[in-house]
Amino acid sequence: MCGIVGALAQRNVNEILLEGLRRLEYRGYDSAGVCLVDGDSQLQLRKSQGKVADLEARLAAAPAAGQLGIAHTRWATHGAPSDRNAHPHVSGQIALVHNGIIENHQPLRAELRDKGYQFTSDTDTEVVVHLIHSLAGDGRDLLAAVTAATDRLEGAYALGVISADEPETLVCARSGSPLVVGVGIEENFIASDPMALRQVTDRFIFLEEGDVAEISRAGITVRDKQGEEVSRPVHKLDGGHDAADKGRYRHYMQKEIFEQPAVVEATLAGRIGDKSVLSEALGARAHEILPEVQQVQIVACGTSYHAGLVARYWLEDWAGIPCSVEVASEIRYRKTAVRPGTLFVTISQSGETADTLAALRQAKELGYLASMTICNVPNSSLVRESELSLMTEAGPEIGVASTKAFTTQLVALQLFCIALAKVNGLSTEREAELVKALHQLPQLMEQFTGLDQLVQDTSEAFAEKHHALFLGRGVEYPIALEGALKLKEISYIHAEAYPAGELKHGPLALVDADMPVVVVAPNDELLEKLKSNLQEVRARGGQLFVFASPQAGFTSEPGVTVVEVPDAPESLAPILYTVPLQLLSYHVALLKGTDVDQPRNLAKSVTVE
Ligand code: F6R
Repeated sequence: MCGIVGALAQRNVNEILLEGLRRLEYRGYDSAGVCLVDGDSQLQLRKSQGKVADLEARLAAAPAAGQLGIAHTRWATHGAPSDRNAHPHVSGQIALVHNGIIENHQPLRAELRDKGYQFTSDTDTEVVVHLIHSLAGDGRDLLAAVTAATDRLEGAYALGVISADEPETLVCARSGSPLVVGVGIEENFIASDPMALRQVTDRFIFLEEGDVAEISRAGITVRDKQGEEVSRPVHKLDGGHDAADKGRYRHYMQKEIFEQPAVVEATLAGRIGDKSVLSEALGARAHEILPEVQQVQIVACGTSYHAGLVARYWLEDWAGIPCSVEVASEIRYRKTAVRPGTLFVTISQSGETADTLAALRQAKELGYLASMTICNVPNSSLVRESELSLMTEAGPEIGVASTKAFTTQLVALQLFCIALAKVNGLSTEREAELVKALHQLPQLMEQFTGLDQLVQDTSEAFAEKHHALFLGRGVEYPIALEGALKLKEISYIHAEAYPAGELKHGPLALVDADMPVVVVAPNDELLEKLKSNLQEVRARGGQLFVFASPQAGFTSEPGVTVVEVPDAPESLAPILYTVPLQLLSYHVALLKGTDVDQPRNLAKSVTVE
């Protein structure tokens, strides 16, 4: 998704901006651009469709330098990926970068056309730069013009704005899209994600909704949406978040799959004792809120939504608490009936997903008991705006396809479900059993990542396929959904997941010798039912790929490939069986030669609706 970087320093900021863009590349984008104010107070604009490397090539051919600049990676929403639609956009002496979507761009465009402005792109963003220009005129009081312009904008935006007539000022504003100010010594920066600036600072101001900031070398002035000057705290981020290194791995996704034993351990650390989940695990206010919870509403998108689906099984089984799970883009647009005592839980890797954030904001008006987020990014919008937060300790996830974020979400959710079950009569024996299993998880995770070679061998059967079906039953059904999502995301093979019992109600019609059918088959109480469903597939010539432990009693035979996995406690099966499915999609994508870390059309952090 789009990324913003800006800098004002006493040195040439070109390389700072480019390094910032490189650090945002993982988010997915299709064009990049930079605009600097040079020593002659002229705007130097360079833009290119494609990768940051293409922009660098353009800069090598036509160098630019300056102590004030803004830069952007664009993920197309309005207008195709192209040089002319890439940001920054310019109006007279003013240049601007924008993340988000301006919903009233059409009437504004008409109004500005009437005033004589000519549009050179198809973007909603260009409207904003002309609007600011129309309010400022070339070079007159950029801050006042940006502030006045934001009053006219509907939708979501993070803006970085410079003017060649004010080479000592960088102005930025946010509403609905994240933006931080990086605080340096006699130099300051802006970015849509602190990670873009980790090479220049570890101190950040997280702008709040409606804030407009004026940045000089010496200081930062923030005004809130009422125009009042406000003091926003400066947060020092610790040093452990520089993940822009693949180490010995070929792809970030591969690295992140193999990091899972360690990050799962980090997510458990300090949160479980020998036999129980520690009460501090969910934060200081948990002991007041959890006893009041009568129902749980989970809201998330994509992979995080799948984590929520798994948690529903655990919550209803262990805590006896009813739980609904819904994708954020749906729940935010329907009338919901909220029962008293309902806890609103969001799950998100980034903490910035626009739909999830909007659903949380709406929930605050709807009489929920409280809000809680399971999130991977401290200081993200979801964390700041939720009453309780339980952090996953996955570390930065760079690969667009979520892997370690998902399994750590499941770990955090399991802690939450046990904590809630404890106040709802979970026996100490059962808690001890669940916690004992959690203690074994990092080591078991290691054994499951050790399936790599076996899964790689299996992946060859998928390389030429166009479709695949994933089956699971019970709590493994969401894992089948997640396996199918991973495969389609990075190998572009059409994959669908079904609860195995639903096969005969329709999808069985698809099954023939060309349809690989992937089965998640742990040794649980539904195993025999699952086996009957698989007979239905075999009888139609379907090719089965069964992930099962030896205890499940499957044997490989023509048409049936059994990928034997280690035996594991039932409560951990959804977490562990995810790993070989991640490896499967990774190896199939390698065989197909796709861009594993940045699959086409996708973005890492979906900050637009
Ligand atoms: C898929 C994937 C996405 C995200 C979804 C929500 O691999 O990563 O489906 O899970 O966009 O993102 P977060 O978790 O950041 O809210």
